[in-house]
Amino acid sequence: MDWGMKNRISRIIKPASGRTVMLAVDHGYFMGPTTGLEQLGRAVGPLLPYADTLMLTRGALRYFIDPAVDIPITLRVSGGTSILNKQLLHEGSVCSIEEAIRLNASCVAFSILVGAEYERDTILEFTRVVDQARSFGIPALCVTAVGRDMVRDARYMALASRLGAELGADIIKTYFVDGFEKVTETCPVPVVIAGGKKIPEQDALQMAHDAIAAGAAGVDMGRNIFQSENPVAMIQAVRAVVHDNASADEACNLYQSLKVEVSARA
Ligand code: R5P
Repeated sequence: MDWGMKNRISRIIKPASGRTVMLAVDHGYFMGPTTGLEQLGRAVGPLLPYADTLMLTRGALRYFIDPAVDIPITLRVSGGTSILNKQLLHEGSVCSIEEAIRLNASCVAFSILVGAEYERDTILEFTRVVDQARSFGIPALCVTAVGRDMVRDARYMALASRLGAELGADIIKTYFVDGFEKVTETCPVPVVIAGGKKIPEQDALQMAHDAIAAGAAGVDMGRNIFQSENPVAMIQAVRAVVHDNASADEACNLYQSLKVEVSARA
């Protein structure tokens, strides 16, 4: 791996802990103005000091994020279908590597559909993006296990994650399931979990904790942070789990006390 690639990865996966809190706010590319992100810049601004990278689209970056901000960008470069389309996630490239470089992306993110219709299209395009990104020392994050009808169990997650890594991913993003060790132990690159739909804070922190305990390198979490009753408190609690090995209860107590503090300041 060359210097540029290593440097970009270490800006995202922090060398001190070997872990990362990725803040995912890329939902607009298929969901439009998602609850909590209607005013994306306003929602994300207070969270940036606690995120290791911001995952979003080129449009969101240009329209909502101050270029002077000091945060590595994970740029969503796949898309092509909306939540209204039955073929949701039959994605191709929606952003060139030149544009990713222009935007100073530290990583590019692409979704593949393992085991679903159009699997081949998404996988072939993913490998094309990997080749281009690697030629400029930019790592690729492979988003796996997406799709409405997929059976999400450890066997499937392990298959999808290993496949993504063998096809060139530098980081895998997938969903937490029971037996997650099977996924992390058989995947040669760091695995991060998505948060999924909003669930109670305690449950989201428990999920993050269990994923870390099972060998995940962190989270790529969106709705469970920005749709939280108190996003600034929640991202710090997630951070405590990911970087400081806090238990779910410790993180939840932290969330509750920060919530009072943040609300008192507002
Ligand atoms: C999914 O493929 C997209 O990247 C989502 O925007 C991402 O998974 C969002 O994270 P969360 O599920 O935690 O809201």
